[in-house]
Amino acid sequence: MATLRCFSRVSQLYRYGSAVGITASRVQSSPLIRATPVRLMSALSPEFEDAKARLGTLKEDPGNEAKLKIYALFKQSTTGAVNTKRPGMMDFVGRAKWDAWNSLGNMSQGDAQKAYIDLINSLVKEQGGPEPEAQAESGQKYQNLLVTCEDGLRTITLNRPKKMNAITREMYDEWVAALDEAAADPKTVVTAITGAGKYYCSGNDLSNFTNIDMSKIHELAKDSGVLLERFVSAFIEFPKPLVAVVNGPAVGVSVTIMGLFDAIYSTDAATFNTPFSALGQSPEGCSSYIFPKLMGFAKASELLMFNKKLTAHQACELGLVTEVFPDATFQQEVWPKLKAYAKLPPKSLIYSKALIRDVERETLHKVNVAECDRLVERWTSEDCMNAIMNFFNRKN
Ligand code: COA
Repeated sequence: MATLRCFSRVSQLYRYGSAVGITASRVQSSPLIRATPVRLMSALSPEFEDAKARLGTLKEDPGNEAKLKIYALFKQSTTGAVNTKRPGMMDFVGRAKWDAWNSLGNMSQGDAQKAYIDLINSLVKEQGGPEPEAQAESGQKYQNLLVTCEDGLRTITLNRPKKMNAITREMYDEWVAALDEAAADPKTVVTAITGAGKYYCSGNDLSNFTNIDMSKIHELAKDSGVLLERFVSAFIEFPKPLVAVVNGPAVGVSVTIMGLFDAIYSTDAATFNTPFSALGQSPEGCSSYIFPKLMGFAKASELLMFNKKLTAHQACELGLVTEVFPDATFQQEVWPKLKAYAKLPPKSLIYSKALIRDVERETLHKVNVAECDRLVERWTSEDCMNAIMNFFNRKN
């Protein structure tokens, strides 16, 4: 098994969200990978997407045997039976992986997906991680978030991959509670927010506005305003380093609050979009104040008023994103960086953040209140109601 040394780091499990375990340069050169492009993830079940995301929560290396099995099941699920030649004698790793894949014979893609999901769940469980069902059973407080904390790095994963991690009312509350918990925990040095599945987050769950008693619409809008104000305040007040690990497209409030984060690391597959005016709404998350400061009025208006969707590289050029990584190596590159940050002296980080941010704190709270007041009015407008109805009727 010494020949499989390239499987040596757990972080390498992240490539394609799967256990392929080879470095970026090998990805480009591997005939196996070139010959068998991975299918679009949308062809796969949400449970499979969820398992892929949970793979990233493994804390320990599960060993080569398990990794080969994960690799084989991933390939069988996404591509079907082996359709390439066995790699040459000298490509030990390629041969081992090909053999593992080939050993699955004609197993159907559906069965392979099921086996993949079962295997990941059992590995996560073995290492003491929460199972999706077990989370609720064991009284875990979050239904829509996965929270882990290791060696000073706390990771909050938005975990509604079937709905592109859209934020429900309950999830806003959970997110605030998770931030409070991170702030209070002396062992947490750095907090990272990321998304399960192919999206980072699709913003406010638009069904928050549906199935409502229209006679209570103003009351509901007011309550939503209070909730949003509390949510944004939690970011303004968060005292420790907060980093977004943007694993895929980000929409709406998940983008606007980025101005309150300390660093944003993004895959080059992500996009950044705040379609407020298309939805009859208006900006929140203090973006109406922070974005023009970051990128100038002309660029901020294009984003916040004219629904422009930015690529990750454009967002980086405009100062919204800290650094962009190739999608194939994103997870391998970002997490070690954050682990290293989490080893820095906590007090120094907290005091530095306070010095950088405190001058603006009062202004940010005022901006937050003004943005929420405007949204309370917008949410009851005909523009907004029509746009939301159009969204939910778009598939008919
Ligand atoms: N609110 C409510 N449901 C959402 C959602 C959101 N913000 N984002 C995604 N979903 C749901 C979809 O309704 C769909 O549910 P269904 O399977 O029950 O039909 C599911 O998530 C998958 O989304 P779908 O639209 O089928 O995927 P897609 O890849 O074609 O498009 C998005 C993904 C994010 C581009 C699209 O769903 C979208 O535009 N969502 C709204 C984003 C938005 O406007 N957010 C608010 C900003 S203020």
